[in-house]
Amino acid sequence: MAVLSVRRYGDPALRRRAAPVGEITPEVRSIAGDMIDTMYDEVGLGLAAPQVGVSLRLIVVADDERREARALIDPVIVEQGGQATAEEGCLSIPGIFASVTRAEWVRVEARDVDDGPLSIRAQGLQARVLQHEMDHLDGVLFIDRLDPVTRDRIKRKIKKEGLSPEPSHHAFAL
Ligand code: NI
Repeated sequence: MAVLSVRRYGDPALRRRAAPVGEITPEVRSIAGDMIDTMYDEVGLGLAAPQVGVSLRLIVVADDERREARALIDPVIVEQGGQATAEEGCLSIPGIFASVTRAEWVRVEARDVDDGPLSIRAQGLQARVLQHEMDHLDGVLFIDRLDPVTRDRIKRKIKKEGLSPEPSHHAFAL
């Protein structure tokens, strides 16, 4: 297992639509393990494969206490509802936080690393983490979900000041 380097805003890997994993090879299992190590190292609650330069539909998420982590392969949101707005950040955009409106709850179907079926119903922070990470699989970043005025202000700030050179080390950085 190894800690991988997290791609930063501006890296084209973050903007690609990731491909389905399909067959779960030893290499896929190894990437999932490395992503969990990387997520813990960065003190995040979730990480998506494109953030480590791997264009596959694979995410890892931790529980709220960051005690347990699991990998979701080819995850799909099959049901969602409600609406919630809360502050969010991204390990790929360190130092930037903003309020994002998302579904309040989601039901996600995926496979685990042993190719078993996973069905997860999540709400609150866990639902937010899942939606944020699954956006990464489509090349979507949380700043894309802000109103245009806020988004432009953030883009100007990044252009002028650059990104924080330090990892976010913040519970809401996903
Ligand atoms: Ni993120």
